[in-house]
Amino acid sequence: MRMWWFITTLAISAFICNSPVYAYDNNPLQDICVALNDSQASVFVNGKICKDPKLATANDFYFSGLNVSGNEVPGLGFSLKTVDVNNMPGLNTLGITLVRADLEPQRIGPFHMHPRATEMITILEGTAYAGFLVPDPANFFKSHLFSKILNPGDVFVFPQGLIHFLYNMGYKKATFLFYFNSQNPGFVIIPYSIFASNPPISDDILAKGFQLNKTEIAELRKKFS
Ligand SMILES: *[C@@H]1O[C@H](CO)[C@@H](O)[C@H](O)[C@H]1NC(C)=O
Ligand SMILES: *[C@@H]1O[C@H](CO)[C@@H](O)[C@H](O)[C@H]1NC(C)=O
Ligand SMILES: *[C@@H]1O[C@H](CO)[C@@H](O)[C@H](O)[C@H]1NC(C)=O
Repeated sequence: MRMWWFITTLAISAFICNSPVYAYDNNPLQDICVALNDSQASVFVNGKICKDPKLATANDFYFSGLNVSGNEVPGLGFSLKTVDVNNMPGLNTLGITLVRADLEPQRIGPFHMHPRATEMITILEGTAYAGFLVPDPANFFKSHLFSKILNPGDVFVFPQGLIHFLYNMGYKKATFLFYFNSQNPGFVIIPYSIFASNPPISDDILAKGFQLNKTEIAELRKKFS
């Protein structure tokens, strides 16, 4: 009886302790799991299907080209070049993504969050102002801003799921590397998510949600869609 109770307790605590872990990238159960490049694959796994390890090559674990910036996102003044499982299939299940970002002077990487990853950034060139918001646990209608001015060589971290921004406060281009502890961090840009949804959220709901009138909502919608 006692043994039974012990085993049940152990099983329940193992379940409770382990379950949050599944919200993150799983630890790989094999040394490598190079992603199979097959858009027709109809088996859905947490990541991509592995190639036969015997067929893996060094190129599966290699990427070249981060020495040049990516394509500029039209109108936003920043460009991103991502190294992830889609262009470096050896990253499959390893729980990591790397991005090079270049931000034009006086432009901002707007308020956004990554639901599945903490992001560590380092600045290689330029001067930036970076910050993230932590909800106040005593009053969810308030938050605390943690921010820093960053110069080349400085490192800052945006904890998982928290809203953050990055502003190029200098007068020349700023270049960064972003490291994410997920192979699929997710990217939720707050104003665009809200004002450019498809189908759109009605003006009535937005006006109530933001305590603004419909003219003001229409202006915001124009800017963010
Ligand atoms: C970037 O690196 C690639 C690969 O090594 C090289 O071919 C290319 O010339 C480099 N470009 C610049 C602008 O340095
Ligand atoms: C995957 O296949 C597509 C379509 O054939 C191709 O365009 C892409 O470059 C491939 N990606 C890799 C990492 O090999
Ligand atoms: C909406 O709000 C703006 C700014 O407060 C104000 O100037 C405008 O008159 C308002 N429009 C309507 C239709 O209430």
